[in-house]
Amino acid sequence: MPENTLRAHDETFWRTFVGRYDVDPDEPLNLENGYFARMSRTVVEEYQRNIEFINRGNSVYVRQHFDRDHGEAIRRQVAQLIQAPTHSVAMATSAVDALQSLIRNYNGLKPGDQVLICDLEYASVKSAMRWLARQRGAEVIELVHQHPASFESLVGTYREAFIRYPRLKLMALTYVNHLTGLVMPVKAIAETAREFDVDIILDGAHALGQIDFNLKKLGIEFAGFNLQKWIGGPLALGFLYIAPHRLADIDPDMDEGHYPATDTRSRIPHSTPNIPALLTLPLVFEEHRALGGALAKGPRLNYLRDLWVRAVRDEPGIDVMTPDDPRLYCGITSMRFTARRDQQTMANRLLDEYGIFTVVRDTSVGPCIRITPGLTTLASDIERLTKALINLSRT
Ligand SMILES: Cc1ncc(COP(=O)(O)O)c(C=O)c1O
Repeated sequence: MPENTLRAHDETFWRTFVGRYDVDPDEPLNLENGYFARMSRTVVEEYQRNIEFINRGNSVYVRQHFDRDHGEAIRRQVAQLIQAPTHSVAMATSAVDALQSLIRNYNGLKPGDQVLICDLEYASVKSAMRWLARQRGAEVIELVHQHPASFESLVGTYREAFIRYPRLKLMALTYVNHLTGLVMPVKAIAETAREFDVDIILDGAHALGQIDFNLKKLGIEFAGFNLQKWIGGPLALGFLYIAPHRLADIDPDMDEGHYPATDTRSRIPHSTPNIPALLTLPLVFEEHRALGGALAKGPRLNYLRDLWVRAVRDEPGIDVMTPDDPRLYCGITSMRFTARRDQQTMANRLLDEYGIFTVVRDTSVGPCIRITPGLTTLASDIERLTKALINLSRT
């Protein structure tokens, strides 16, 4: 077995690892780690030190030293996370900030063109694509993917759309969606999109840190990410990526003149960043790398997901919302109690009767309960979840 798979199963390792985090002993079992991750204790301490440092040095330090001494080095490290050149990324305050800046400034549309979104996109991405279409006189095509999905159904649905809507120019694509956790076959979809000359803006919010990918190999030229989910950074940091040869296809944001038009950073609003959070990133990245990065986090999260999914997959009252094709799932997976109409009531029962915290999300086939283990989740926690799901489905 490869080393990372071995480690994914090693509860002794992970029990020790959990010791690096402060977890409230009185809180319910948190299986809603998809919202944002806990920072390690050392990262929290570093963040606190940076808040005090910046508060002391204030603008004297920031104006004279931050950009020159740290800002560019941090940007370089962010770019290294996705194996991209430094000049292809620009810091943002969130994934939505990055994605909406790409969408708002995409200049390849003319009246009569079409843009594509699907049911699995994040709401702020959908609304931005609808806004863009309105501004440019374009039409919005909205797809609903088949459930359960398969590799072929996902790629085939896009191919059919590209054939049916020949004026399509731009589409949103969500690598890992926040509703069911389905992982999109990005490379195959991007290859198909290229055949039809359709540009893709990739939402990588849930992929970064738990899936090992290379944007160039995937064929992705525009993407937005955040750092608080699977990288473990402070809240409210994100970044966008524009393949250098496509920079001219995204306009400078509202003609902002702070950076020259040849600089990717001109494609995002210019504002005062959370400097203490930025200064904390080198330690965050060091810890991410020391653990083994996405190649270690992904297999661990998948292992925890497999533990509960394998135990409930054949339960007649449970529908698991992602298939078991390893190309199509990751740590986040939703489920629903098929005999119950109200999934929120079931999520409330999970919390009240079993002390397990989850979140309900609405999908095209109705509401479901999203279950997201984190790096502080142990196999024993998943056993507790499994028993609760089986009891609830049978009573
Ligand atoms: C798929 C997806 N895209 C975008 C976002 C937005 O990320 P942010 O809160 O950093 O803007 C989220 C947040 O949960 C998400 O799940």
